[in-house]
Amino acid sequence: MRDVIDLVGAKTEEIKNGYDIVHETVHQFAESLGNAIDAKDTCTSSHSDEVAVISKALGVQIRLNPDECRALHIAGHLHDIGKIGIPDSILKKKGKLTDEEYEVVKKHPVIGAGIVGPVSVFSGENGIAKMILHHHERFDGKGYPAGLKGHDIPFGARIIAVADTLSAIMQDRPYRQAMSFNHALEEIERCSETQFDPVVVNALIEIADDVQKYLSDMKSYNEEDLIIKDA
Ligand SMILES: [Fe+2]
Ligand SMILES: [Fe+2]
Repeated sequence: MRDVIDLVGAKTEEIKNGYDIVHETVHQFAESLGNAIDAKDTCTSSHSDEVAVISKALGVQIRLNPDECRALHIAGHLHDIGKIGIPDSILKKKGKLTDEEYEVVKKHPVIGAGIVGPVSVFSGENGIAKMILHHHERFDGKGYPAGLKGHDIPFGARIIAVADTLSAIMQDRPYRQAMSFNHALEEIERCSETQFDPVVVNALIEIADDVQKYLSDMKSYNEEDLIIKDA
């Protein structure tokens, strides 16, 4: 979203060192891949951006360190990249999925982790590939693909799960209309400790006003604006 880097232009002096260049290039590439998956389904335009921004804001609120927050943001952009491997006939189906179709959709976290597998900086026990792999796990162990429970789920994946659900509930789907922010927040609170880590739900409640403002007027924000409590 924000035009941070222009390698041959006047903004080059803003880049402090090679790490910033590499990080921002990786971020921009993640954002473009997230846009690619959102473009496959017009119902979900901006979904990957929303998940990236809200996940990072939650990480900041929970006082994760800056590197962890940056990783969360990139994982947010890429969390559904595996949907590229799901047939459009299922992804764009109007109406309820059959059990067999739902089983196909449930493969997208594994496919996504495989897609980013060659990127070595995304690997590691709690790295971006693991956040993608586990973003549909549930805190009570009833999620997929591994059925991990509680703190066995990478923390980043628990954060993305909350941001993903908030964004998804507020967007139209073929089988239901978008719901309001307050409705989405109530639903997430109701599922605290079953579907979601209560620490993450509480963080969302704490920054709810800022998140609501961002979602209602995304175009006037750049990605960093929501991160107002950055330590
Ligand atoms: Fe971004
Ligand atoms: Fe997903």
